[in-house]
Amino acid sequence: MIGIDVVSVERIDMTNKRFIEMVLTEDERRELALYSADSRRKEYIAGRFAAKEAIFKATQDRDYLKYAILHETSGRPYVKDHPEISVSISHDGGIAAAIVQIQAK
Ligand SMILES: CC(C)(COP(=O)(O)OP(=O)(O)OC[C@H]1O[C@@H](n2cnc3c(N)ncnc32)[C@H](O)[C@@H]1OP(=O)(O)O)[C@@H](O)C(=O)NCCC(=O)NCCS
Repeated sequence: MIGIDVVSVERIDMTNKRFIEMVLTEDERRELALYSADSRRKEYIAGRFAAKEAIFKATQDRDYLKYAILHETSGRPYVKDHPEISVSISHDGGIAAAIVQIQAK
């Protein structure tokens, strides 16, 4: 199965802690804390939100905290504990986009 989603980066409200805690796992919040620029932090969150909505489209599972989308050393994203999911994220022009592919078990 595949899934795709796009998210407007400017709609991410950094002051909305409840939203951030609803969307990002602890591991992701640790990665987020490595970035100081607000623009990069919004982009990071928007990319993960897009990826999790794309996972929902592929799996029908909208449990955001079940899927931590982290970085390999190269910067490439992967879904922790879910090797069956491949994910790709891009952001430009105020839009974050993500596409996922789930291998059938
Ligand atoms: C990776 C690369 C292709 C991203 O392209 P870009 O046009 O600058 O940026 P895009 O908006 O399209 O993509 C950014 C997303 O690509 C993903 N990405 C980063 N490195 C990646 C890699 N090596 N392979 C696949 N995807 C990668 C990330 O998910 C990133 O978003 P996120 O950090 O918010 O999760 C480009 O930066 C590149 O060639 N870098 C060379 C390798 C490098 O510099 N690595 C840095 C190590 S930290």
